[in-house]
Amino acid sequence: MESSRLVAAGKRLRLGVMASGAGSNFEALVAACQADALAANVVQLVVNNPGCGAAQRAQRLGIPCQLIDHRLQPSREALDAALVDCLQEQGVDLVVMAGWMRIVTPVLIAAFPSRLLNIHPSLLPSFKGLDGVGQALAAGVTLTGCTAHLVNEAVDSGEILIQAAVPVRVDDDHARLRARIQQQEHQILPAAVALLAQRLVDQG
Ligand code: GRF
Repeated sequence: MESSRLVAAGKRLRLGVMASGAGSNFEALVAACQADALAANVVQLVVNNPGCGAAQRAQRLGIPCQLIDHRLQPSREALDAALVDCLQEQGVDLVVMAGWMRIVTPVLIAAFPSRLLNIHPSLLPSFKGLDGVGQALAAGVTLTGCTAHLVNEAVDSGEILIQAAVPVRVDDDHARLRARIQQQEHQILPAAVALLAQRLVDQG
């Protein structure tokens, strides 16, 4: 990780994170920033589920958290427009979808071109969509993992940035396999942010 610190950037990157659930990837990003493994600060969390684990973690960690409840929005586009407003208001450079369980639209993607990342619990392009862990178990593969990738308009299909492989053990169940995949997610997601940030610096 050390080599990918954004020394050249001369400023700490402002990260926005979107989460719907437990928020362990969100916390891993905050930890990487606090440990200076990533020359960035998480300046805004956005959640769509009131009281979700990610929101609770934000409170504990002292990170600003905005609830944008999709149930109160008339359309996917309206939800994404509200997200863009919130994230742009905070001057966010990069946005990480860390367990964001809504399909996003061109409204969000166009606002952060090549600056929107997702973490997915499979070795893409295998097992796109919901429950990548369950899909891998059902398929009987002996190797699965996780992927940090750019977001485009097709679900789980943007440019792959970093992947980590996780062997499936014969005695694995969903919870055990998911836990080992998540350990890897917590490593590759900050690394993917660093990679993308360095690319942006290099591009000037
Ligand atoms: C992760 O497994 C990620 O791959 C998927 O959603 C899960 C989020 O977990 N997109 P957490 O909320 O970060 O703990």
